[in-house]
Amino acid sequence: MDGLRIGFPGGEAEAVRGVSFELAAGEAFALVGESGAGKSLTARALLGMVPREATVRGRVLLDGGPVTPADLGRRIAWIPQDAMSALSPVHRVENQLAFSIRSVTRTGRREARSAARRALAAVGLGPEAAGAYPHALSGGMRQRAVIAMALVNGPALVVADEPTTALDPERQEAVLTLLRERCAAAGATLLLVSHDLPAVRRHADRVAVMYAGRITELGSAEQVLERPVAPYTRGLLASLPRTGLPRRARLPVLAGAPPAPGAGGAGCGFAPRCPGADDLCRRAEPTLRTVDARAVACHHPSEEATA
Ligand SMILES: Nc1ncnc2c1ncn2[C@@H]1O[C@H](COP(=O)(O)OP(=O)(O)OP(=O)(O)O)[C@@H](O)[C@H]1O
Ligand code: SF4
Ligand SMILES: [Mg+2]
Repeated sequence: MDGLRIGFPGGEAEAVRGVSFELAAGEAFALVGESGAGKSLTARALLGMVPREATVRGRVLLDGGPVTPADLGRRIAWIPQDAMSALSPVHRVENQLAFSIRSVTRTGRREARSAARRALAAVGLGPEAAGAYPHALSGGMRQRAVIAMALVNGPALVVADEPTTALDPERQEAVLTLLRERCAAAGATLLLVSHDLPAVRRHADRVAVMYAGRITELGSAEQVLERPVAPYTRGLLASLPRTGLPRRARLPVLAGAPPAPGAGGAGCGFAPRCPGADDLCRRAEPTLRTVDARAVACHHPSEEATA
């Protein structure tokens, strides 16, 4: 993804303002940041699924070529927040997977059904769950079925936008572990959008922290989440409860609020909330540069470790 910009009619500033990153084959890459940062739009741009009224600029390439609508469900799979929106309520789970298999490869019915059962068994769903309708399954089981569905046609990339927010914390962890494990087993790259920084630390290889439509810090999950240098990342981490995982980890506990899209102007978008902001920050928007082996968009990155 190179120089991605997404704007809406009437919006003075763009909702996504020049986001670039490359995903390495097989890695788990997370997008984190407060609500409205542009995570979902960025993730959806990978799938060509931005709202119709949006204007998209920049390049999104998969294996060096453009992404086409035909890639959805084949080379790229999408895991939404709510499993029910990925599953049809009127078909048995195994039939939905079998249908998906048959829509991509010429496979006989029986063969597709057994492939579907194997895919469901791989996510811990036995014959009974496989033969059930989605509403008969628990939320966790449904999200497992969605993972099986996402991976059934061997995609190169799986995009999961807050795939576990509908679940309770224990199930969230189990489903994320499974998602990561199944993607790794299939050799698929995982792009995970999440508010849950501890979970991202456990499950992602690299992470990009987004603020107001831009990336402020990008590097290995260990570097960025354990030794953050961007004031915004440090603020996000400092706002986490000291012990345990945040429930329903919605994070905006930082002082102040992100700028409304269209607000802003010159300077760093985080300056009004940043303890270290100075004249330079208010005058010139920082661009990404390499600091301590990660990319940071900040005039005064800190070298102190916080965590
Ligand atoms: N259909 C739309 N029309 C106009 N503006 C939109 C639309 N969708 C998104 N936006 C703008 O883009 C911004 C970023 O949206 P996005 O959904 O990517 O945020 P996000 O980081 O995923 O937030 P959240 O954590 O709440 O899911 C929003 O704040 C909103 O202003
Ligand atoms: S550029 Fe300045 S205002 Fe922006 S995050 Fe860095 S120190 Fe804070
Ligand atoms: Mg979102």
